[in-house]
Amino acid sequence: MERSLIILKPDAVQRGLVGTIVGRLEQRGLKIIGMKLVHMDEALARKHYAEHEGKPFFPGLVSYITSGPVVVMAIAGDNIIEMIRTTVGATNPAKAAPGTIRGDYAVTIGRNLIHASDKPESGEREVQNFFDAHELLENFNRDTDRWIFEQ
Ligand code: RTP
Ligand code: MG
Repeated sequence: MERSLIILKPDAVQRGLVGTIVGRLEQRGLKIIGMKLVHMDEALARKHYAEHEGKPFFPGLVSYITSGPVVVMAIAGDNIIEMIRTTVGATNPAKAAPGTIRGDYAVTIGRNLIHASDKPESGEREVQNFFDAHELLENFNRDTDRWIFEQ
């Protein structure tokens, strides 16, 4: 079972796209096990994006992600990391395929609406950065699961 951290970035909140983007993920059948509104401070932003420290775009990235509230979500399921990245689309929305979230709603890399964990280890680390264990409802049952997953 993998876990992915999704961040609906400040532009998604400001543009009123939270419902639309959550809907895309929900309608795909993905199981959301945690969700909240957060205003990230600089320390949390630097920790979350530590792999990019020192790159030219890092200061702009930190100021973008801390510029307003974001919605953070944890999603759980088998092999979901790659599936979600495919649904999100290429990092640069100008190159993202139509039908992906970035390809349908964004145009520039510095305002690309959404973060999704890029590998299972990142997913675990990132989910723990944003959620306490009691905020994650790992074990609730969805009656629809038998219509989404072959049993
Ligand atoms: P994310 O981490 O936000 O899900 O995006 P990603 O995996 O698709 O892309 P990543 O390489 O991890 O980059 C993180 C975020 O930094 C910004 N960025 N700007 N100006 C640039 O060249 C540049 N490159 C990356 C983007 O907001 C990207 O989502
Ligand atoms: Mg990334």
